[in-house]
Amino acid sequence: MDYTQKLIEKFNDRSAHIAILGLGYVGLPLAVVFAESGFKVTGIDPITSKVDTLNSGESYIFDISNKQISDLVNSGHLSATTDFSVLSEVDAVSICVPTPLRKTGDPDLSFILSVADTLQEYIHPGLAIVLESTTYPGTTRELILQRLCEESGLNVGEDFFLAFSPERVDPGREDWTTINTPKVIGGITENCLLVTKTWYEQSLEQVVPVSSTEVAEMTKLLENTFRMINIGMVNELAIMCDRLGVDVWEVIDAAATKPFGFMKFQPGPGLGGHCIPIDPLYLSWKLKSLNYSARFIELASEINTGMPRYAVSKIQDALNLQKKSLNGSKILILGVAYKLDIDDLRESPALDVIIYLKQKGAVVSYHDPYIPSIDHEGIRMKSVSDLENEIKAVDCVAIITNHSSYDYDQILKDANMIVDTRNALGDKGKKNPKVVRL
Ligand SMILES: NC(=O)c1ccc[n+]([C@@H]2O[C@H](COP(=O)([O-])OP(=O)(O)OC[C@H]3O[C@@H](n4cnc5c(N)ncnc54)[C@H](O)[C@@H]3O)[C@@H](O)[C@H]2O)c1
Repeated sequence: MDYTQKLIEKFNDRSAHIAILGLGYVGLPLAVVFAESGFKVTGIDPITSKVDTLNSGESYIFDISNKQISDLVNSGHLSATTDFSVLSEVDAVSICVPTPLRKTGDPDLSFILSVADTLQEYIHPGLAIVLESTTYPGTTRELILQRLCEESGLNVGEDFFLAFSPERVDPGREDWTTINTPKVIGGITENCLLVTKTWYEQSLEQVVPVSSTEVAEMTKLLENTFRMINIGMVNELAIMCDRLGVDVWEVIDAAATKPFGFMKFQPGPGLGGHCIPIDPLYLSWKLKSLNYSARFIELASEINTGMPRYAVSKIQDALNLQKKSLNGSKILILGVAYKLDIDDLRESPALDVIIYLKQKGAVVSYHDPYIPSIDHEGIRMKSVSDLENEIKAVDCVAIITNHSSYDYDQILKDANMIVDTRNALGDKGKKNPKVVRL
């Protein structure tokens, strides 16, 4: 049987049944995109509550509406299950499981390994597989291909098809989404690329083929390492400008008027999210095994992880201006999501800021319109309900995440003292005696 041709036909006429492994920030939007373009999609996730929510026609992800889910569930294009055996009947599977770090800072590949074990059980002729999880170059070949070829007796590129395609989505963004962000894809063989590219082209606006899974894996790491290093550089610039008594925000805005050769990055209280602080460390870890030290990554990581402490030092400076100590002072953290206008707390620098402030005896409260409570490594807090009064009551308001729903003019009027780590107050915070800026 010519599985290459058979699969291409099934993708072209949208009769292929697609599974998505992992229904998180990446997997669910991808499942929706495939389902909305006419495929039958089954999402698989071990978390029962996610599966039940989707099957009842509701979304649990900011970027996906309840209506999108209910329309797709009602039309039979989307369903979810915790039962992995459905993999034995699908034509294609995208893998969107987490790739976090261990406490030691090394990659935690357990989710990918577990998926590889599952696929080993359910692999069958005529299956196309795409790994989407961000990981080090070589993972698709070393961890997935090897296991799938062992014992199955199937040949890659003839009986089954394997590729890597990094997810580049930026949660919360409306101009560039899963559907219109160009999708890089690299196959283990030419046939693997042909089959998976045909599949993705049905649902995504632009697919960018590359020559191997390793090139596709490294492309994602280049993109996120580029961001991480530039943010590290601009964070250090903020520290240097502070020593020099120069306004870093004004410098950045002035530099950004250059129409070529400069890209604007902004300093802040530290890196957050599931990608930028983590992905480059997958690369440096892999390079260590090849006796190479990824120096730019290590340095940027050191500067970025120091930023929450730097933000705390700014809060100390602000209190100092009022002849107060951190110990016993009331501090309100405004915004705890890792970036503006989203509900994602993962790796947020706000968590470190809260921990350091508490360690120094501060009485900490927080507000975030998107995150009603925090339960993270010993921090158990609820977002304050009466924001207006809390702003007036505390010794210092620390703007950690500059959500656009806040009324910054009112905050400036009501607060006793403000630390602005994001330039949320703009020029109004400049030379204002009750504002300390990063
Ligand atoms: N969040 C982003 O903005 C983003 C952007 C680009 C790339 N990525 C990458 O995409 C991958 C997924 O990230 P995410 O943000 O969607 O993670 P997530 O934690 O939101 O979702 C992962 C999902 O996988 C499920 N899961 C865990 N083990 C599983 C298994 N064995 N089988 C099936 N499902 C399983 C989890 O229950 C969870 O629902 C990561 O590698 C990440 O680095 C994330």
